[in-house]
Parts: sequence; structure tokens; C-alpha cells
Amino acid sequence: MNRRTTLLAVTLCAFKSAVLAQAPPKFDPAAVARGKQTFVSSCAFCHGANPKGGEKGPDLLRSVLVLHDEAGNSIGQVVLNGRPGKGMPAFPFTSAQISDIAAFLHSSIAAAEDRDSYKILNIVVGDPRAGAVYFNNQCASCHSATGDLKGIASKYDPSTLQGKFIAPDLEWTEGAPPHKVLALSVTVTLPSGESFSGTPLNLDDFNVSLRDRNGDLHSFDRSGGSPKVEQHNRLQAHMDLLSRYTDDDIHNLTAYLVTLK
Ligand code: HEC
Ligand code: HEC
Repeated sequence: MNRRTTLLAVTLCAFKSAVLAQAPPKFDPAAVARGKQTFVSSCAFCHGANPKGGEKGPDLLRSVLVLHDEAGNSIGQVVLNGRPGKGMPAFPFTSAQISDIAAFLHSSIAAAEDRDSYKILNIVVGDPRAGAVYFNNQCASCHSATGDLKGIASKYDPSTLQGKFIAPDLEWTEGAPPHKVLALSVTVTLPSGESFSGTPLNLDDFNVSLRDRNGDLHSFDRSGGSPKVEQHNRLQAHMDLLSRYTDDDIHNLTAYLVTLK
């Protein structure tokens, strides 16, 4: 955003708060909550969860377009079409999802104007101890704070880190809508009962090859359905957890993960 549009946005903002001061806006809390959830999982990687801008996307609280938006009419144009060539992907959202996102953005702008309530938009608001307990119960079967996730908080900013466990399977390439990646793993069971699991490197009628957790390669000839090969989505556990997290769980987990420097 150049200097002139920033100034314009700030002026508009001041204008809006003058108007808002007379008639405080009412936002449907359920719509705001739904919009926030969609925003956090689809948009926060780039725009930040605040959403004051992140590594890859601009501040949407100071966006002239968002300030001018009425119930999603302008935001919807951007979301549905993306900005090809400028790093903003298109999302095939319904008009209900878009109006929820708009409700979340407009309520965030209103809250940002009120410094006190702005604090609650900080995404690191949870209780790290409660997050640690949740982590040990739900995540420690696959992850370890001193193993694979050691230093994770130095690798990602808090909103990216939150996106990593909420939607670790979302990827996009320039100009295309975000898509789910199939993080497949295979398990090969030999007639003897011995089995090997890992990331598939090759899988066809004649051969199955994989790399196991230790980085070792294993390759087997196949014929007549032997040895037995099973495929799983490695991120299935994350998808299953998605329907179980409460807002508090998400905040607490984020607060805990940001301590893993
Ligand atoms: C991959 C990163 C990325 C993701 C994910 C993303 N955006 Fe964007 N967004 C951008 C970039 C970069 C721009 C600025 C494009 C430009 O310069 O025109 C932008 C621009 C926008 C704008 C226009 C702002 C303005 O003032 O012109 C809106 C509104 C917006 N995004 C909303 C969203 C919403 C809502 C989502 C989630 C559904 C989302 N974005 C997801 C990167 C992203
Ligand atoms: C059944 C196994 C399983 C469970 C349970 C699980 N995860 Fe994961 N998680 C994975 C796999 C597999 C990946 C992808 C890692 C990769 O691609 O290298 C992943 C990726 C991640 C990443 C991104 C790591 C990185 O370096 O980018 C984070 C953060 C994460 N998980 C956090 C969590 C949290 C928090 C929980 C509990 C709420 C959890 N996971 C539960 C298997 C699991």
C-alpha cells in the first residue's frame, strides 16, 4: 500500500469511528465467530489472524476496500477472483461464507478502534499450561516438543504456526485456488508379517518403495497383490481434530507452541 492510500485509509478510519461513535455497529456474534474460523484457517497465513497483515498479505484493517465493503460485496469480489499474479489466491466460497468473513473483518475494525478490546484479537491469548496438557493428550503420540517440533516457534510466526495445526494440508500455487495436499503414507506388510511404513516414493503394480522415519529406503517387488500395501493420509489425525477443537483449545495450543523456541 503506498503512502497516499495509507493516509486515505487512516482518514476513512477516523471518519468511520466518528460515525461509529454515534451508532455503535451491531454484529451477529455467530456470524463473526464463523467468519473468524474461516479466516483463521484460510486467510491468516497471509493476512495474519489479527488481521493486521502478515508475511505474505496486506493489513486488512487499514484496507480502503474493506472499509468500503458492505456485507461482503467488495471483499467477495477479491475472495472469489483472487488477484492473479499478485499473490492473492481465489477461493470458491459461498456467499454465506463471504458474508461471515465480512462480519468478522468489520467487527475486527470496530474492535481495533477500541484499544482495550483490541487486545483480545492478539492470537497468543491462551493459557500455555492448558495447551501443554492438551498437547500431551492429543498430539504427543505423533509429535514431541523436544523432537520434531523443537524450535517450531522460531520457524513460524504465531498465526502461521496456528495455521500449521489447524490446516496443515492446505497449499496453493500462484494463480490457482488453494487445495488440500494428500499427505500419503504407505504400510507394506510382507508375507512373514514384518511391516514397513513411510512416505511412498513409488507405487505401481510391480514395485513399492518408501522412505521410513529414519530416512532409510525400502523397495519391494510386487506381484499378484503381494506384499500387501495400505495407504493412509498422514494428516488424517489433523482433519479429525479439526471438528473437536474449541476456540479455547486452539488459543491454548497456540500459546503453548509459541514457547517452543
Ligand atoms: C497466499 C496468501 C494469501 C491468502 C491465503 C489470502 N490472501 Fe488476501 N491478499 C493477498 C495479497 C498478496 C493481497 C494483495 C494483492 C494486491 O496487491 O492487489 C491480498 C489482498 C486481499 C484483499 C484486498 C485488500 C485491498 O485493500 O485491496 C482482501 C479483501 C483479501 N486479500 C482478503 C482475503 C481473504 C478474506 C482471504 C481468505 C479467504 C485471503 N485474502 C487469503 C494474499 C493472500
Ligand atoms: C496421528 C499423528 C498426528 C497427530 C495426533 C497430530 N499430528 Fe501434527 N502432524 C502430523 C503429520 C504427519 C504432520 C506433517 C509433518 C510433515 O509433513 O513432515 C503434522 C504436522 C504438524 C505441524 C507442522 C510441523 C511443521 O514442521 O511444519 C504442527 C505444528 C503440528 N502437526 C501440530 C500438531 C498438534 C498441535 C497436534 C495436536 C492437537 C497434532 N499436530 C496432532 C501428524 C499428527
